Amino acid sequence: MSEKPDVIVMTGDYISGSTKFLSGSIGKFNKVHLTDCVNSLSQLKAPLGVYGVLGNHDFWSGPEAVKIICETFSKQIGMVWLRNSSVELNKGGTSFRLLGVDDYWEQSCSFATACKGISSGAIKILLSHNPDINDEISLARERIDLVLSGHTHGGQIVVPLLGQPVMPSKFGQKYRAGLVRDGDRQTYISRGVGCLLAPVRLNCLPEATVLTLT
Ligand SMILES: [Fe+2]
Repeated sequence: MSEKPDVIVMTGDYISGSTKFLSGSIGKFNKVHLTDCVNSLSQLKAPLGVYGVLGNHDFWSGPEAVKIICETFSKQIGMVWLRNSSVELNKGGTSFRLLGVDDYWEQSCSFATACKGISSGAIKILLSHNPDINDEISLARERIDLVLSGHTHGGQIVVPLLGQPVMPSKFGQKYRAGLVRDGDRQTYISRGVGCLLAPVRLNCLPEATVLTLT
């Protein structure tokens, strides 16, 4: 908050349950974990709002978990969910569209629906938990100026010279972290603030990213 952001976005994987993946190994969705998560983010406020999309681990925690995550964040920190939808924001006389999609690995992900009704000349920033959405953007030949993602989150455990041994992306190490350019489109992948499975990070510091748009 000391950075006084105009807008705050969060790109998913708030909690990791076990209804689909690694079932039984990391415990079922537990509401108390979500409460802790929301409480730790409860001070977040920005003049243009707080926006979010869901990640694969949110969906893998089950439909009930998704419902609770959405309701709790909306109620307690005023989060606006961009589930295949968009909002128009304006800063200093410049308007831009903030779009968001459900997780790329879920059937409910619809980039086309998120783009509906937006004029082709609009400045577009897309929140997509998984940076692999770039594949679909390229195929659709839709102009997106900036994609904001997490998911690969820097790899969490990064081995010198090797990078991250297992990368949950069809593009390998390309979208591991930081700024990636695809022609006129840029994607920023945050390393995020959490951990998967074990509370361990190696050569991959957590980050809350501050981006200045010009
Ligand atoms: Fe993820």
